[in-house]
Amino acid sequence: MAATGSEKQGAKAYYVTTPIYYVNDAPHLGHAYTTVAGDVLTRWHRQRGEKVWYLTGTDEHGQKIMRTAEANGVTPQAWADKLVTEAWQPLWEHLDIANDDFIRTTQKRHTDRVQEFVQDLYDKGEIYKGGYEGPYCVGCEEYKLPGELLDGEGEYAGQKLCAIHKKPVEILSEENYFFKLSEYSEKLLAHYEANPGFIQPESARNEVLNFVRQGLQDLSISRSTFDWGVKVPWDDKHVIYVWVDALLNYATAVGYNENPGKFESTFPADVHLVGKDILRFHAIIWPAMLMAQGLPLPGKVAANGWLMVGGEKMSKSNLTGIKPQDLTSHFGVDAYRWYFLRAIAFGQDGSFSWEDFSARYTSELANDYGNLASRVAAMVGKYFGGELPAATADGDAEKAIHEGLAKAVAEADRKIGEELDFQGGILAVFDFVKQVNGYITEQEPWKVAKDDSPEGKARLATILYTAAESLRAVAVLLNPVMPETSQKLWDSLGAEPALGALADQKVQESATWGLLPAGSTVTKGAVLFPRLEEKPAA
Ligand code: MSP
Repeated sequence: MAATGSEKQGAKAYYVTTPIYYVNDAPHLGHAYTTVAGDVLTRWHRQRGEKVWYLTGTDEHGQKIMRTAEANGVTPQAWADKLVTEAWQPLWEHLDIANDDFIRTTQKRHTDRVQEFVQDLYDKGEIYKGGYEGPYCVGCEEYKLPGELLDGEGEYAGQKLCAIHKKPVEILSEENYFFKLSEYSEKLLAHYEANPGFIQPESARNEVLNFVRQGLQDLSISRSTFDWGVKVPWDDKHVIYVWVDALLNYATAVGYNENPGKFESTFPADVHLVGKDILRFHAIIWPAMLMAQGLPLPGKVAANGWLMVGGEKMSKSNLTGIKPQDLTSHFGVDAYRWYFLRAIAFGQDGSFSWEDFSARYTSELANDYGNLASRVAAMVGKYFGGELPAATADGDAEKAIHEGLAKAVAEADRKIGEELDFQGGILAVFDFVKQVNGYITEQEPWKVAKDDSPEGKARLATILYTAAESLRAVAVLLNPVMPETSQKLWDSLGAEPALGALADQKVQESATWGLLPAGSTVTKGAVLFPRLEEKPAA
């Protein structure tokens, strides 16, 4: 590797990536779904005290972008610049995405390294020149196998359609450069066998296994009929196939061939998050490219399902006009981040419905969580002048809460941190919230408050301390999912002076009972989940 710079780094970072998104249009709910999942996963690992690197970015080359730019009368670069700065980056900021880097495939730090990588493969004899004719879907930027196509109907009668985009494929016939992908079938199968967790979920793993078992064809890795791409270094009449260019972002963004210190302490990714539509690129082509270079393979390729509209994959054309911002302006950013991960089992398809979102917002966020926080703060205010009392009369009911918290922490940490089961992890925390609500209902502090005896006072103090301390842990556990809300709760509990910044709280330590000191100043802060306004007229 040609070292041009070096950064001293310690242990390897927990490295998570999203797909880099095509800039032919603005982001929609489906893109935001994957990016929010990655953000929650990486925030979770940061709160475990791990070193983390979260990468996202944009895929700016290829025929699809070129055609969109042409249709809009601008150069592809001008189009990409506009979309990145006016649509993609602002949305990630709006959704509170804490990515460490944002890579664009038109950046020189990327294009130079892509050329080096491909030249290296060529020099190693992994690439040869050949001819190919076959059906190509520009939407997927992929040659299709005849068996994967659908027969067109209506306006497309007599034509073959891409099964994902439901649009006619084009028959391309070109002289191209090919990567010897067919030589990697056995090696890939051996890797899947030795690493059962490499592809998640099981259904995705099976799909890939079946595909590779049929034997792989060599992969066309250049195009010569248009020029919006990275030039093949030894033959500038060709540009590098957009998928080879795009996959390499995961290496170029972390210092491949440029910063060995950074590269070694970050690469390979621990988790590549991808939609199931692009699973094969990540679970077959990408590992084969790495094997050809002798580079280490990623830990896991995790495929999320599709957000569906009317039984179809949500896409730019069938969104029925809903933008992420239309939902955040009504439900708030935190509820948005929470909803899709809470409502859909990660890995499976799910439908979005305004009614379902409203119902869950009201019952789970506003009633269960928000009301608990405001009731507890109000009672500490009313009965103790806002000064958190000490718990001096713990009994069985309190013991059950301590145990409930320990269980919630262990479960959420395993499910979110290890299994990428966001729904299961969130539910574990919300079950604990329900348990605390049940505790308050049973203990009836408003009745205990009428008992003026020292025992009565001690009991009331114990109940309110238990509830407030539970909320302290909930704020930490939900911080990766709803950071703004957790911060409000942290402030209202007066936790910062004694415990420090919320972001510095460790997930595992949040299970330790009694961290919030008696004497903390509890205030009735802002309402965590305000009542929803009427649904805006369509
Ligand atoms: N540019 C390629 C990816 C290259 S990665 C090296 C690409 N881009 S894309 O803009 O089409 O975005 C693809 C990703 O967006 C999907 O894989 C998925 O993660 C997300 N989604 C897009 N539509 C989606 C749904 N309807 N539902 C869920 N996720 C969706 O492919």
